[in-house]
Amino acid sequence: MSKVKIAVLVSGSGSNLQSLIDYIEARKINAEIKLVISNKYGAYGLTRGEKCGITTLVLDKKDFLDIRERDRLLLENLQKNEIDIVVLAGYLAIIPPEIIGVYRNRIINIHPSLLPSFGGKSYYGERVHQEVIKRGVKITGATVHFVNEETDGGPIILQRAVEVDFDDEWQTVQKKVLAIEHEILPMAVKLLVEGKVEVVGNRVKLL
Ligand code: GAR
Repeated sequence: MSKVKIAVLVSGSGSNLQSLIDYIEARKINAEIKLVISNKYGAYGLTRGEKCGITTLVLDKKDFLDIRERDRLLLENLQKNEIDIVVLAGYLAIIPPEIIGVYRNRIINIHPSLLPSFGGKSYYGERVHQEVIKRGVKITGATVHFVNEETDGGPIILQRAVEVDFDDEWQTVQKKVLAIEHEILPMAVKLLVEGKVEVVGNRVKLL
């Protein structure tokens, strides 16, 4: 059986990409990462990809007069490489509706909170954890969800919680959350690859 082809999109360190690479190399997921794409030059995620012999590509908006040209190239590269599943692993750019339409329920994102809390346009990266501390919530966590036209609003595949202690700084919370991200992202990809995810309206049934 041919392997499911994955593209991973990153903007930064790529620790979630690394956890996916590790699961695939350990043969826990029967898939192949064919492409790592970044919207930022120098993102360490690109280096992680290169180290494993994965094709990498930078599509930085600085290089385009019109952002639509960047997104056109993004779609073209996904299709040229016959990508089945797109994983946003710390990709801090918006996926346009044209790509969401083509890859409906085949693009997933990892978000560092328990959605719908601390989600939406202005919530990404460390800001999420800073707001968690400010608000004084006692639990936070991570969410893997499908990407639809609403930022962080797509059907939720997996979530896991961690406790926030009174003395935690945002960096401590970030560390706790990242540790669970590294587990639930590969877990969600595995479920998807094995056809165990069914979307019912805006909800997900795990088979
Ligand atoms: C992760 O915490 C991920 O959840 C977050 O960016 C970080 C990337 O880390 N994504 C978002 O905030 C998306 N809204 P990584 O580059 O080490 O995987």
